[in-house]
Amino acid sequence: MTAALIDGRARAASLRAAVADQVAGFTARAGRAPGLAVVLVGEDPASSVYVRAKGKATAEAGMRGLEHRLPADTPEADLLALVDRLNADPSVDGILVQLPLPPHIDASRVTTRIDPDKDVDGFHPVNAGRLATGLPGFVPCTPLGCLMLLRGVRGHLSGLEAVVVGRSSIVGKPMAQLLIAESCTVTVAHSRTRDLADHLRRADIVVAAVGRPNMIRGEWLKPGATVIDVGINRTGTGLVGDVDFASAAQVAGAITPVPGGVGPMTIACLLRNTLMSAARREGVAIDLSLS
Ligand code: GUN
Repeated sequence: MTAALIDGRARAASLRAAVADQVAGFTARAGRAPGLAVVLVGEDPASSVYVRAKGKATAEAGMRGLEHRLPADTPEADLLALVDRLNADPSVDGILVQLPLPPHIDASRVTTRIDPDKDVDGFHPVNAGRLATGLPGFVPCTPLGCLMLLRGVRGHLSGLEAVVVGRSSIVGKPMAQLLIAESCTVTVAHSRTRDLADHLRRADIVVAAVGRPNMIRGEWLKPGATVIDVGINRTGTGLVGDVDFASAAQVAGAITPVPGGVGPMTIACLLRNTLMSAARREGVAIDLSLS
């Protein structure tokens, strides 16, 4: 193996410590802790694990976590009514409705109902538009975490060739927007891309978010590339990413492991977004410049 391992756990721990430090200052000045409401509909096992982890991290950062667990057959109107209540609650700074939602609920109607200024997931079209046009807003947590890891490895990203594999609204599209804002030359590849290897050959940065186990092979990479693997695929042999780690680690300059790469950054960025929301809403200055 020639690639350096990108330690997402360590980077996330330092971000969480910086957030906790600023939360203490915020709470002293605002007279209340930042509040994050997490809504889970149904009992999807993976979602339950994520929601529990978010609750634990929220408490550890000194924030107030409110968990709303609703049965799988909750009518859409009831969920929308809960979102309305959370929008109107001044002690709630961030609202996250865990996805996926049961099939009888229109997820886009729910994410669009969340007040854009409490949308710490950054999924509301207003926040997607803000990101695309360079206005301040909430950036989705996973691509934001990827960007922090990339900056940690490469410093300034200006002028680098980046290939984002995957075009989802949660990862691929916002990741591409963030990299454009960093002055990278960005290619977005996806399931209909004709010759992925031909694009990857030029990429200084690869962000893989397609949900296909071990799809990206080391032979396709540019030597020294920085590889960020967002994939979390459960296989018979355990958790694997979208990148074939064994072959990629022979060619890349730096690579994230799965698990222990991007995953821990997502929750740390959710805490960061919640603190930023609370600070904006209360007019309290915070400093996360060192994180
Ligand atoms: N499901 C998987 N990841 C996420 C996330 O970051 N936010 C929400 N709301 N649901 C998810």
